Amino acid sequence: PTVRLEDYRPSDHLIDRVELDVRLDPHDTRVTARLAVRPNPAGRPGAPLILDGDDLRLLALDLDGQSLAPAAFRVAPSALTLPEPPQRPFTLTIETRLDPTANTKLMGLYRSNGVYCTQCEADGFRRITYFLDRPDVMSIYTTRIEAEEAAAPVLLGNGNPVEAGRIEGTGRHFAVWHDPHPKPAYLFALVGGRLDRVSSTFTTMDGRAVELAVYVEPGKGDRAAYALDAVERSMAWDERTFGRAYDLDVFNVVAVSDFNMGAMENKGLNIFNDKYVLASPDTATDADYAAIEAIIAHEYFHNWSGNRVTCRDWFQLCLKEGLTVFRDQEFSSDMRSRDVHRIGEVRTLRARQFPEDAGPLAHPVRPKRYAEINNFYTATVYEKGAEIVRMLRTLIGERAFRAGMDRYFAENDGTAATVEDFLRAFEAETGRDLSRFAEWYERPGTPRVAISGHYDAGAQTYSLELRQTRPGAGSDAPPVVIPIRLGLIGQDGPLDDARSSRVTDGVFVFDRWDDVLTIENVATAPVPSLFRGFSAPVRVDMAMDDTERLTLLRHDTDGFNRWEAAQRVAARLMIGALRGEATEVGADAFAAALDSFLDARALADPAFAALVLSLPSESDLADDIGSEIDPDAIHAARYDLRTRLGTALTDRLHALRDALSEPAGTPFSPDAASAGRRALRNAALDLIAAADPTGGAACADAQIHSAGNMTDRLAGLSTLALLPGETREAAFASFAERYADEPLVLDKWFAIQAMIPEDGTVERVRRLQEHPAFAMTNPNRVRALVGSFALANPTQFNRSDGAGFTLVADTVLALDRANPQIAARLMTAFGSWRRLEPVRRGMAESALRRILATPGLSRDVTDIAGRSLGES
Ligand code: ARG
Ligand code: ZN
Repeated sequence: PTVRLEDYRPSDHLIDRVELDVRLDPHDTRVTARLAVRPNPAGRPGAPLILDGDDLRLLALDLDGQSLAPAAFRVAPSALTLPEPPQRPFTLTIETRLDPTANTKLMGLYRSNGVYCTQCEADGFRRITYFLDRPDVMSIYTTRIEAEEAAAPVLLGNGNPVEAGRIEGTGRHFAVWHDPHPKPAYLFALVGGRLDRVSSTFTTMDGRAVELAVYVEPGKGDRAAYALDAVERSMAWDERTFGRAYDLDVFNVVAVSDFNMGAMENKGLNIFNDKYVLASPDTATDADYAAIEAIIAHEYFHNWSGNRVTCRDWFQLCLKEGLTVFRDQEFSSDMRSRDVHRIGEVRTLRARQFPEDAGPLAHPVRPKRYAEINNFYTATVYEKGAEIVRMLRTLIGERAFRAGMDRYFAENDGTAATVEDFLRAFEAETGRDLSRFAEWYERPGTPRVAISGHYDAGAQTYSLELRQTRPGAGSDAPPVVIPIRLGLIGQDGPLDDARSSRVTDGVFVFDRWDDVLTIENVATAPVPSLFRGFSAPVRVDMAMDDTERLTLLRHDTDGFNRWEAAQRVAARLMIGALRGEATEVGADAFAAALDSFLDARALADPAFAALVLSLPSESDLADDIGSEIDPDAIHAARYDLRTRLGTALTDRLHALRDALSEPAGTPFSPDAASAGRRALRNAALDLIAAADPTGGAACADAQIHSAGNMTDRLAGLSTLALLPGETREAAFASFAERYADEPLVLDKWFAIQAMIPEDGTVERVRRLQEHPAFAMTNPNRVRALVGSFALANPTQFNRSDGAGFTLVADTVLALDRANPQIAARLMTAFGSWRRLEPVRRGMAESALRRILATPGLSRDVTDIAGRSLGES
């Protein structure tokens, strides 16, 4: 059942108010919904009322207090239909019955570790009651929640608490919540359970005192402090940066251990995967702290970009997700180092979105059709969606961008909007026509820009010849509008006198198939620094020598491009080696350049230096190569360069490790500067171990034992994981023992082992699937063990005998009935199968065919398997 954007029409009915009465019970939860329904003036008069359902059992139904005659309605688990509803406002009262304990899909109302919770986006509300479950139907909700007090002392809903009490003589109690802001059903939430609470208050810029609280599993309150602090910083930042204040008396965050995604922005009641809330120095890495900060901010920012202004339909998903990712990226950049954060964003985009955009699952940022919307919560919608917002800001400038955002919120507040509404606000603000820019939303594929530069010494000009192509976008696709932030660098530094009338505030707008940009007043032959800060999500083929790139590493004023220069040189070295081609800069010359870079900058900016020392990943290289991929050859080439760099830089790396080591007893701090020092020490360890496995193993093992925090302990274990032997296995065993009662920490242990690039890993993963701490019903466990194997172990997942594909296919099939969303997510690992060399390609294809041929497959997995094979 394909849904198409062009078929959108407004709902025939609206639901203005919802009164829900939810009586929680582990197996027999009763939900009574009183819906104030009326015909939509914008809908078709006299149309039937068709309420969505999913797996529902109806117990009772009445209209304006009268029970309905059997002939007046039709009911099935998937719909409740009134063929001839009244042509006036009326109240429909519906009672349904649910089994939250049996709900393994983790959509709708379910129990996680005994805690009742909900997940309604995209279409889970219809698993709670029959409803018009579409985002353009917005209602005011009042929710009464009732439960056994001993089992669920905490009862939370959307909005503000209005009433609570005991029901004498029953052991049960209740709470009533009212949310004054109209919202679509996907933002509904409730929670009931035994939870610890940490809280504080925040006063908004308009003077509202807000009670903030984070709820976690009993006994884990001390691990919630960082998340609570991140809530406060997010609130203050959104006021300062976008003028957005919070709009309820309470803001609650609840951490649960079984959750399909990262977190959910339900109005006033954000529900989180506990992985993105819980943190302590002993259990969380620096990366975990950064992710918690970013996701807390993301969900909070949705209160405006998503909730106050929501989406008309699910095709507009990027309207809230791309914009909110952009907002959380800006927040993190302000909290941390902007260059370092930007590099991280681009690494994620290239690792996840570029391959998606180049494979069979490619889709526009605003898709035009879908079979299963939950399969469109993708890197393209989120990350490329954020890049589009960033380009818009680059094109119109920061002031106009902020004014356009204000206008967008003002004009669309309380409505369900579209991408057009978003762009219209910026057009109105700037007087510009953004219709050509809008093309970014419409088609799949990563544009490619080929550039060559020519210096004319006589005329003192430098010209750039540019050409864009759009692989995957279709032959009728027009060129896209590409903002190129640029500058010129000479042998001793930036050429500040160079100028062009076509470059405004450092940005050239490239919006034709071909163009020539001429820059004047260029005193010496320059090296161009293009796409500064990664100003557009494109692939760039720049004809440039590696020696010129090393000039950029030395002298560019743009941090992103300094890093990018080193990455390009490293990638050329590795790809050159596996193709048997020589490069003008060899490994030794590259090592020498890194050495002088480290000498000059490592201690001044360790976080940045750590990124420069981290070579492009195997999947980065595969993406560069693009076809006939042999993951073993890539692995070998990368291993070889790590060994050479480690050997050439040994003294420097040891000196850095010493200079950066913390005196014993230094208290742990997750701040960016401390994290940066740890990152560089651990990047150095990685290269040291590549050059000297025996010494490296000893060093890693010592670090595991002496580490005062999870970042260093885990870095030691990751290094050791690449070095087969008894030391490694002993370290795995003692780590498992130490953290036997810490599922989130054991996830790291599962993941590290799943990523070992050795023949035995398939068997190891199968063995770990039997480990008592593993559970197929928990998404975090599955992602840690099987997800890491499928998405982060290129040599073993892509084994030429097909054993890696078989392992993942078996897991997908075992999981599909219980949790199709997670099964489908795992399957996306097959998304690049066509780019493999023929033997592996054949193996991947048969695994996909086996999945698709399995009877009773979910819509989620059928959709991914079908599209991966090019059959739908
Ligand atoms: N809106 C959530 C976010 O913050 C994602 C929820 C998606 N859930 C799902 N089952 N599709 O990004
Ligand atoms: Zn989101």
